[in-house]
Amino acid sequence: MGRTARVALAAVFVALGTGAVIAQSDPIAARMALMKGNNDNANVVVQMMKGQAPFDAAKVDAAFAQWADTAQKLPGLFPDNSKTGQKTRAASKIWVTKADFDAKAAEFGKVVAENRDKARGSLDGLRAAIPLVGNACDNCHKEYRLSKQ
Ligand code: HEC
Repeated sequence: MGRTARVALAAVFVALGTGAVIAQSDPIAARMALMKGNNDNANVVVQMMKGQAPFDAAKVDAAFAQWADTAQKLPGLFPDNSKTGQKTRAASKIWVTKADFDAKAAEFGKVVAENRDKARGSLDGLRAAIPLVGNACDNCHKEYRLSKQ
């Protein structure tokens, strides 16, 4: 392995390690940051769908990658000590029916995985895929996210 590759790998490990530490020490901030990323990416693709921005397969792919990452991390970001604080909008029901909450995260992950190729393939594909992804977001929010205080 060349020096450059070793340095790059080391940087990846540092980045992964830091993310894990933040998630453990501050799960509320970690899940809020993921959701903010979800929303920013949704805005990017909706602009493309409306013709307000050019179709960009790389940006679509990045959005799907970030959503997939969220789906995978979300179930682990609701420890018992994170029910309140930091104006969290997490509904207390999450801790009552956690298995159903986790299933909704998994369903979201499945929809994201199944529609990624179609979405990054063309604008028509993106237009077909995004409503399905949006439904999976709403399907979780309607039960597990409190309205804005
Ligand atoms: C499996 C459940 C689930 C899925 C799927 C999900 N969310 Fe969320 N979302 C939540 C929860 C719970 C909160 C509240 C988190 C908190 O405040 O601690 C939230 C909060 C948010 C917020 C508010 C953030 C804030 O700071 O108030 C936005 C915006 C958001 N989600 C967007 C999205 C988008 C866009 C998607 C789909 C691409 C999505 N979410 C998918 C559960 C989910």
